[in-house]
Parts: sequence; structure tokens; C-alpha cells
Amino acid sequence: MRESPGAETKRVTMFAGKGGVGKTTCAGATALHHATSDGDTLAISTDPTPSLLHIFELKDRPKPVKVLERLYVAELGRNEVKDMWDRKFGREVYGVFSSFVSVSYEEFTEFVTSILPGLHDEFMVDYIKELSQGGKYRQIVWDTAPMGQTLGLLQTPAMLREHLRPAPRIYSRLKLGRETRKPVLDIIKEWEGLSAADMDFLRKDVKFVIITIPEALAVEQLDGIFAELDRYGFRAEQLIINNVIKEVGDSDFLKARAEQQQGYIESLYRSYSGIGIVEVPLFPHEIKGVDRLRKVEASLFGQSGG
Ligand SMILES: Nc1ncnc2c1ncn2[C@@H]1O[C@H](COP(=O)(O)OP(=O)(O)O)[C@@H](O)[C@H]1O
Ligand SMILES: [Mg+2]
Repeated sequence: MRESPGAETKRVTMFAGKGGVGKTTCAGATALHHATSDGDTLAISTDPTPSLLHIFELKDRPKPVKVLERLYVAELGRNEVKDMWDRKFGREVYGVFSSFVSVSYEEFTEFVTSILPGLHDEFMVDYIKELSQGGKYRQIVWDTAPMGQTLGLLQTPAMLREHLRPAPRIYSRLKLGRETRKPVLDIIKEWEGLSAADMDFLRKDVKFVIITIPEALAVEQLDGIFAELDRYGFRAEQLIINNVIKEVGDSDFLKARAEQQQGYIESLYRSYSGIGIVEVPLFPHEIKGVDRLRKVEASLFGQSGG
């Protein structure tokens, strides 16, 4: 299965879809493929409840671990996000907030990384952007949290500036104390610049792949996912239909399920004729370990691909 030339030049592939449809499985299989045919590859999960290391049969570890020749896997959790805060400009943004409310830096980062989903996601995007631009990896495969949360991102600084707009004189004069000497509006402007760069990265360097399964709820939710991408100017380049029953044998049970799936599959081909659609069969076992991931890889990229 050949990808369009534009898609091949993108260094990051992001998998999106509702929970349980096979994002992590397809991310793992895609990473395996890139490691075999393209070069050093990182599979990274930003899902709050990641399972990427699990499918490669490894224990939780935040730093990239080498699982095979040219293949690294990492799960980005809350602690790593907090570290990024400190590294980037968490102290400055904290300065903005602490000029309004009395809050300790610890409490503030806790709040930001756990409660404000927009900020949390923005730093995830920024982290992946840095990884991608760092050039250490030829390909990065990004296993994300379910869509809704992920795309609430990058709006925060613009929102904040909107809130401050009615009284710019006051805020622009507000000099911050110990943490920074910059005016609040300058910091928010910088922050907005960072968001714009992150959006740019998502549009130019990230290939969006959407995953679904041929069942009512998953299919119904797809339109929402596509609309959400569209709202931010992103375009999905591929749709994966996972768990497709290919062999029914003489089982009436499987035959009935397969017939039901067929209706959904046909409607998916009708609705999304504009993008590449790939089907992955339902395997008779869960997908864990490299050997089983290879089978998913073969469905995604064709037998000769890897
Ligand atoms: N094509 C498939 N055939 C059989 N089992 C699958 C298939 N795809 C995924 N699974 C299994 O379904 C479960 C959910 O998949 P996962 O990739 O973790 O979904 P997500 O990341 O979208 O939540 C896992 O146990 C996985 O092994
Ligand atoms: Mg997952």
C-alpha cells in the first residue's frame, strides 16, 4: 500500500480515535515499520493512561527505551510535562498567575498539568515538536489520548489575551516580582508565539491518522473527529478500519457479526472516499509483542513493506 508523496515526507504520525479502537496497536505496528524501513524511530505516547510499553512487553519507564534495533519507545507522563514547564517558561507563566492569586509554584504546576488540559496538551505538542526538530529520530509515531482533549489545545494564550483585552493598560504596567521582570502582556505574547509555532508544526509536519472500528458508536463519532480536525485546519490523511472480521468459516456467530460490520464498512467508504482507507483484520488474539505487531504492520503497509 503506497502513501501519497506528501505524506511520506512527514516525520511525525499521530494516531487519533476513540478509546479502545486500536490506536496504540496501530502506533506500535507503524513504529515497527518505520524502524525497519526508514531509520531510527521513536514511538511515544502522550495518553494519560498509556499502554505503549505494555504492548512491547516492557515495564513503565519515562525515558525512551530501545526495544529493537532502531526502535525506541517512551511514555510521556505528568512528571515529564512538569519538567518541561520548568525548562520552557513555567516560572514566567507562574509569574503572571501569581500576580493575580496567591499560589505556590508547586500548587501552580500541579494545577496546570492536571486541570488545565489545554496547557498540558500544548506542552505535549511542543515536546514532540522539539523531538522532531532535534533530528535524533527519522520518524516519530505519536500515540495520543482520545481526540476531544487533544484538540482543546493551543487556544489558551489567545483566550487569556482576550480576557485581558478590556484592561490592557493595567496589565501592561504590571511588572512581575521575583520570577521575571517582563510585563505580563509580553509574556502572554511570547506564549502565543509558541502556540502559533506548535500549530504550524501540527499542520506541516504531522500526518494525522484516524482509527475506527466498524461499530455504530465508533462510526457515529467519526464525523465529530473529522470536524474537530477541520476546525483547526488539520486534514486526516488516512482512515484505518480496525477489527474487521475477514474469516467467518462455518460460524453463524462470526457470519452475523461480519454482516453487521459490512454495513458500517460500506458507509465508511462512502463517507470518506477522499482519504486513504486501510482495513486491519480482527485477529483471534490480543496484539502484544513484536511478532503479533508484525502482523498488524503487514495489514497496514502490505506484505512486502517490511
Ligand atoms: N486487529 C485487532 N485484532 C485483535 N485485537 C486487537 C486488534 N486491534 C487491537 N486489538 C486489541 O484491542 C485492545 C485495544 O487496543 P489498543 O490499541 O490498546 O486501543 P487504544 O489505544 O485505541 O485504546 C488491545 O487489547 C489490543 O490488543
Ligand atoms: Mg492506547
